[in-house]
Amino acid sequence: MKPYPAAKAYRLLEPGPVVLVTTRAASGRANIMTMGFHMMVQHDSPPLIGACIGPWDFSYAALRETGECVIAIPTADLAGTMVDIGNCSGRDVDKFARFRLTESPAGTVRAPLVAECLANIECRVADTALVDAYGLWILEAVQAWTDPDRRERRTLHHNGDGTFTVDGKVISLQDRMVLWKQFQD
Ligand SMILES: Cc1cc2nc3c(=O)[nH]c(=O)nc-3n(C[C@H](O)[C@H](O)[C@H](O)COP(=O)(O)O)c2cc1C
Repeated sequence: MKPYPAAKAYRLLEPGPVVLVTTRAASGRANIMTMGFHMMVQHDSPPLIGACIGPWDFSYAALRETGECVIAIPTADLAGTMVDIGNCSGRDVDKFARFRLTESPAGTVRAPLVAECLANIECRVADTALVDAYGLWILEAVQAWTDPDRRERRTLHHNGDGTFTVDGKVISLQDRMVLWKQFQD
C-alpha cells in the first residue's frame, strides 16, 4: 500500500453510476442536472438514498420548493450528454430542449422521468437535517421504473477526474452472500 490523499477518497468511492436528477419548479418548468455523489442509505421500509445537491445548482431551489425529484440512470450512449448536462445550468437554458430529452410523466411526483434513460426513481425528500451543512438530502424512493427493451444497458461510473468507467462483465457471487439472501430476488 502507498499513501493516498484523503482529500481524494471520493475517487475511490464515487464510482457508483453517474445519475441525472430531474426537478419541476412550482412554475411548471422542468430541469435536469448530473450527480455523481450519491449513496443508498436504507434498503426498504422505506428505501432511502443520500444525494448531494448543492445550493450552487439551480435544481437545489426546486428541490427545496417542491420536495420532489427523479433520479434517472443514463447509459453509455448518453455519456457526452450526461457531462454536458452537468456543465450548464437550468438558470440559463432549457436543458430538456437543448439535449433533446423526453419528459415522461411520473406516477407520484411532478418531476419528469427521462424516457431515454435505463431507469428512473421517483423520490420525495425525507430528511433535510444535513442539507445546510453538506447539501446532503435524504430522499425516499417512492416508485421506480426500468426499461426492459433498452439494448444499451451499460452504466457510467465517474472516477472523479473527468474519466468514466463503462460497466463491464457482471460476475455473480450470490452463492457466497450467505447472510444476505433476502436481497437477491
Ligand atoms: C460528472 C458530473 C458529476 C456531478 N456531480 C454533482 C453532484 O454530485 N452534486 C452536485 O451538486 N453537482 C454535481 N455536478 C454538477 C452539476 O451537475 C452542475 O452544477 C449542474 O449544471 C447543475 O444544474 P442546474 O444548475 O440546472 O441545477 C456534477 C457534474 C458532472 C459533470
